[in-house]
Amino acid sequence: MSDLLRALAGEAPERTPVWFMRQAGRSLPEYRELRVGTRMLDACLTPDLASEITLQPVRRHKVDAAVFFSDIVIPLRLAGVEVEIEPGRGPVFANPVRTADDVARITQIDPADLDGTAVAEAVRLTVAELGDTPLIGFAGAPFTLAAYLIEGGPSKEHLRARAMMHADPEAWNALAGWLSRISRRFLEIQRDAGASVVQLFDSWAGSLSTADYRAHIAPHSKAALEGIGLPSIHFGVGTGPFLADMRLDGVADAVGVDWRMPLDEAIRIVGPDTAVQGNIDPAMLQAPWPVLEAHVRDVIARGRGAKGHILNLGHGVPPETDPDQLTRIVQLAHGEL
Ligand code: CP3
Repeated sequence: MSDLLRALAGEAPERTPVWFMRQAGRSLPEYRELRVGTRMLDACLTPDLASEITLQPVRRHKVDAAVFFSDIVIPLRLAGVEVEIEPGRGPVFANPVRTADDVARITQIDPADLDGTAVAEAVRLTVAELGDTPLIGFAGAPFTLAAYLIEGGPSKEHLRARAMMHADPEAWNALAGWLSRISRRFLEIQRDAGASVVQLFDSWAGSLSTADYRAHIAPHSKAALEGIGLPSIHFGVGTGPFLADMRLDGVADAVGVDWRMPLDEAIRIVGPDTAVQGNIDPAMLQAPWPVLEAHVRDVIARGRGAKGHILNLGHGVPPETDPDQLTRIVQLAHGEL
C-alpha cells in the first residue's frame, strides 16, 4: 500500500507522505510551456495534455501522489453550463444563477447525462503511467461552486450565495443538492477510471458562520462524498471555527487544515478517528530555505500526534513559487535531507 493510503488508513507510514495542492500549474516552466495557446478548460478536456500536466510534478518533485489536472468547474462545463476561466481571475459564468427561476432551470440538467469521456480517458492514461503512485481525484464542494455560480465569478465574501440560503432556503437547497450530485458524478467518473483517493475542495467555506455551515452546507458536502468507496480528504480554507464539522460525521477520512492554526491544535479538534492534511504556510515558500525548512520540520513534528498526517500546504502553490523549494520539502519529508 502507498504511504498516502496508509496515512489515510491511520497506519503510520515510515515516511510522511507529501503532495501539494496546485502542484501542477504555473510554478512549473514545463507546464507554462505546454499550456501556450490552449485555454485552461480546453486543456483539462484534452486527455493527453491533462495527463501529461498531471504527471509533470510527480516526475519533478517525487511527490507521494498525483492530483488530477482539471478544475472544479469542469463538471459544470460538461453539463452544458457556459463557463470559462479567466487567467489571473478564476471561473466566470455567462449566466449567473440568482433567482428561483434560474435555479429551477439549471437543476433540470440531469447529472447522470454528463459526458465524462474525456475525463475518464485522461485519468486512465495517467494511472497507467503512475505505477504505484496514487492519483487523487477531486471535486468542488457545493458551497464553493455555488459561490462562483451565483455571483457569476470570483467574489470576496460570497454575499449573494450566503444571502440565498436565508432569503430563499428552498432555492438554495435545490441548487446545493444539484451541485452536490454534479460533483459526485465528477468524482465517480474519476474513481471508475482509476483514481484511488478523492478530495473535496471547499475553498471558500471560511466565509460562512458555523451555524450556516452546519445547517446549509455540511449535509450537501456529506452527500457528495458519502459511500464513494475511496478514502477521502475534505479541504477548506479559514474553516478553523468549524473544523470538527469538516469531518462530515466521519465520512471524510482526512480533514485539510490551512496555515492559520497549529497542526497539533487541529488534531485535538478533529480527534483520534480522522487523519489531517497540511499545513505549510504558502507564504513561507518565499522565505530562504533554512526558514522554510524549520517551518516544515515544525509542521511534521506537530503532525506526529495525528491518526495520520499527509504533508501539504495550507492552500495551493502560488504561481510565483520557485519549484526547487517544493522539491526540497519532499526530500525533507522523505528523510533525504
Ligand atoms: O494541481 C492541482 O492542484 C490540480 C488541479 C486543480 C486546478 N484547479 C487547476 C487549475 C485543482 C485541484 C483545482 C481546483 C480549484 N479550482 C479550486 C479549489 C482549490 C483552490 O485552489 O482553492 C478552485 C477555487 C478553483 C477555481 C479556479 N480555477 C481558480 C480560482 C483559478 C485561478 C485563476 C488564476 O488564473 O489565478 C482556476 C484556474 C486554474 N485551475 C489554474 C490551475 C492550474 C490556473 C490557470 C492557468 O494555469 O492558466
